[in-house]
Amino acid sequence: MDSHYAYALYALGAAALAASGVKLKTRLELSRAKHRSLTGHVRMAQRIASLIPFYEYDEEQFFSSDSAPEEVVARRRAGFERLSQLYRDRFPKTAALTAEIRDGVSDLQFISAYRVPFQYSRMVREHLKGGTVLQSSAGVTVTDLDGNRFYDLTGSYGVNVFGYDFYKECMEQGQRRVRNLGPVLGAYHPVVAYNVTRLKEISGLDEVSFHMSGTEAVMQAVRLARYHTRRTHVVRFCGAYHGWWGDVQPGIGNPVRARETYTLEDMSDGTLRVLRRRRNIACVLVNPVQGLHPNAGAPADTSLVDGGRKAHFDRAAYTDWLKRLRKVCTECNIVLIFDEVFVGFRLAPGGAQDYFGVKADMVTYGKTLGGGLPIGAVCGRRDLMKRFRDDRPADICFARGTFNAHPYVMGAMHEFLERIQEPEIKVLYRDLDTIWNRRAEELNRRLREAELPVEVANVSSIWTVSYTRASRYNWMLQFYLRAHGLALSWTGTGRLIFSLNTTDADFQAVADRFVAAAKAMQADGWWWADTSATNTSIKRLILREMIAARFSPRRHDAASGPDQQV
Ligand SMILES: Cc1ncc(COP(=O)(O)O)c(C=O)c1O
Repeated sequence: MDSHYAYALYALGAAALAASGVKLKTRLELSRAKHRSLTGHVRMAQRIASLIPFYEYDEEQFFSSDSAPEEVVARRRAGFERLSQLYRDRFPKTAALTAEIRDGVSDLQFISAYRVPFQYSRMVREHLKGGTVLQSSAGVTVTDLDGNRFYDLTGSYGVNVFGYDFYKECMEQGQRRVRNLGPVLGAYHPVVAYNVTRLKEISGLDEVSFHMSGTEAVMQAVRLARYHTRRTHVVRFCGAYHGWWGDVQPGIGNPVRARETYTLEDMSDGTLRVLRRRRNIACVLVNPVQGLHPNAGAPADTSLVDGGRKAHFDRAAYTDWLKRLRKVCTECNIVLIFDEVFVGFRLAPGGAQDYFGVKADMVTYGKTLGGGLPIGAVCGRRDLMKRFRDDRPADICFARGTFNAHPYVMGAMHEFLERIQEPEIKVLYRDLDTIWNRRAEELNRRLREAELPVEVANVSSIWTVSYTRASRYNWMLQFYLRAHGLALSWTGTGRLIFSLNTTDADFQAVADRFVAAAKAMQADGWWWADTSATNTSIKRLILREMIAARFSPRRHDAASGPDQQV
């Protein structure tokens, strides 16, 4: 009896051990499927971010934070003064109105504080006041309050695919179509029928739902995936942006924990293993622009403290990855969602699905689809889009929104979807990759020939700037670019977005200005670099500064932070 008892205990113990072994293995697999960087470890990133103290360079250190020789510091100082004077002369009204608005607009306070690494921010805000107010747009340009015309490289966050005049027409003609109904909500304007038909055609999917932003479209796609799979977790890839809803923004920027999100490594077998093994994964979200910088966040100059930012798009490799991902999602009944809010309609007429030749179960669209007005949309398979169960009347998946399918948005969307079939728009899609890759190569060749430490990389018309030198001042380029008539968004040189109506002549003008701006920056000494400096040595130095700032007795004086100070 005793030996039976002991035997049973052993067996139980062995089973428990085996179970915990499996659990441990699964856990380890998950850990291995995270990217090594902090972007892959969102909680750690959050913790570290909370430890970074505010400190800033005084006027002296601003020019010499890399211990440049006196002569170089003097050149930088003179260059900065010239630039500052140019900004004062050229942008007075724009800067004055921006300052007036900023006091009451929290978003503006945020973006002006985060244009450049925080250590340098105050000097920049005080002396390089460019402003964030515009009065008009035409062709591929925008004009500020002082009458300065800029080539627009902001792309209006990606909305502007076909040129601003195209959207003005969509909005005007769309309004004409729907103005008799006006702001009536709940019921649909008849234009919706056309929009749904076209979106089904474009996405190759069965049903559509309309929302007010890309963020909401993503929320709804994920909610539906959870509802239908009865699983909890969403997989997003390291660094990928899917809007600002908490579950898809676990990490820095979100004050609460996203407990049901796995942030996994892009283009990785380890990730596929996790998808195969775990039974709690409802969906995988893909933002195809990550092909340009897999496993890194959207590049922005606010974190450009060295020359470590790199990007390169390998279309074949990314396509192969998406195909493998598709296969595993199908095998494991995981809903594959392409978040095409940014790239939809930009890469190809059928969006990323068309461009990469991979079909998703659901696709989110937004930005440009609204023909210039705010929009988010989800297209999906019929079985995934259904919001109730025939056999369980109280088990529903709720989603509403007062302004969903607003007649004016639907009108502009109707125009958009109709016009993109016209020959003059269709022609813009012809040879897109060839054109934009050629333009990028051309600019890179000019930059190389001029021995400038700058290069660009692109997915079609979406570009990013990298730097070939380990410098602490690469973020300065955005201000020279502005001085040379190129408008960038608050992420600076991290993201340049061209509209497809950019002609070769327009591009030539942009490239001329780009090269001239970089030359001016070079002449002003910002790219002087200690030959022994590396990106790692710069990071180490900054870490040392942070530690010193954290334990400095003056810490509390400075702790008011950047947004208290203008
Ligand atoms: C891929 C992607 N998804 C979602 C969003 C969020 O869209 P919105 O800003 O309209 O909420 C964005 C916005 O940049 C995006 O690029």
